[in-house]
Amino acid sequence: MNDLSTPIDFLLTRRSSPAKALQAPVPEGAALDTILTAAARVPDHGKLAPWRFAVLGPAALTRLADLTIEIGVAQGRDPGRMEKAAKTFRAAPLVVAVISKHDAEAKIPLFEQQLSAGAACAAMVNAALASGFGAAWLTGWVANDAEFNRCAHGIEPPDFVAGYIHLGTASATPPERPRPDLSDIVIRVDA
Ligand SMILES: Cc1cc2nc3c(=O)[nH]c(=O)nc-3n(C[C@H](O)[C@H](O)[C@H](O)COP(=O)(O)O)c2cc1C
Repeated sequence: MNDLSTPIDFLLTRRSSPAKALQAPVPEGAALDTILTAAARVPDHGKLAPWRFAVLGPAALTRLADLTIEIGVAQGRDPGRMEKAAKTFRAAPLVVAVISKHDAEAKIPLFEQQLSAGAACAAMVNAALASGFGAAWLTGWVANDAEFNRCAHGIEPPDFVAGYIHLGTASATPPERPRPDLSDIVIRVDA
C-alpha cells in the first residue's frame, strides 16, 4: 500500500489508516508544515482560501473530548456513544481540524467554497500518506453541530468542520478495502 515510486503509483495504492491505529511519532515542524502547505494547494474558485487549519495538540484534544460528552449528553445523546466519540479525540496523537470558512463577500457560491474545504481535507490526507505518515479523515456529529463548533472552535454556521484529519504513524498496514468498479461509476457520454 501507499507505493511511493511514482505519483500515479501513489494515487492508485493510497490508503487511509484507521484513526485508532495512529500513534506517535506525529508530523511536527517542517514535516507538518509540508503537509499543511500541500493541503492549501487545492482548487479554490476565486482564490479565497475558504478554509482554516486548526492544529489540535493534546490539551485541545482533551478539551474537545470533554466537550463531546458535555454537549452530546445535554442534547440527549446516548452517554455510552458519547464516551466512544470522545475517545476519538482523547486517544488521538495529533488532529488538524479543517474548518470550512465562508467568505460571504465573495460571489463564489457557498457550496463551491465548501467543496474546496473538502478538497483541502483530501489533499491533507494524501500529503501525510505521501510523507510516510498515516492519516484518517473523520467527521461524526460534532463536525456540523453549531453548538459544539461555537464552543470548540468559536465558529458560527455556515462555517463547520469539513474534517478532523487524524495524523500519526500507523501501527499496522491497513487492510485493502473494496474500490468501485469503473463500470459501475463511469457513464460514457458520446452524444
Ligand atoms: C467527509 C468524510 C467524513 C468521514 N467521516 C468518517 C468518520 O467519522 N468515521 C470513519 O470511520 N470514517 C469516516 N470517513 C471515512 C474515512 O475517512 C475513509 O474514507 C475510509 O476509511 C477509507 O479511506 P481511504 O479510501 O483513504 O482508504 C469519512 C470520509 C469522508 C470523505
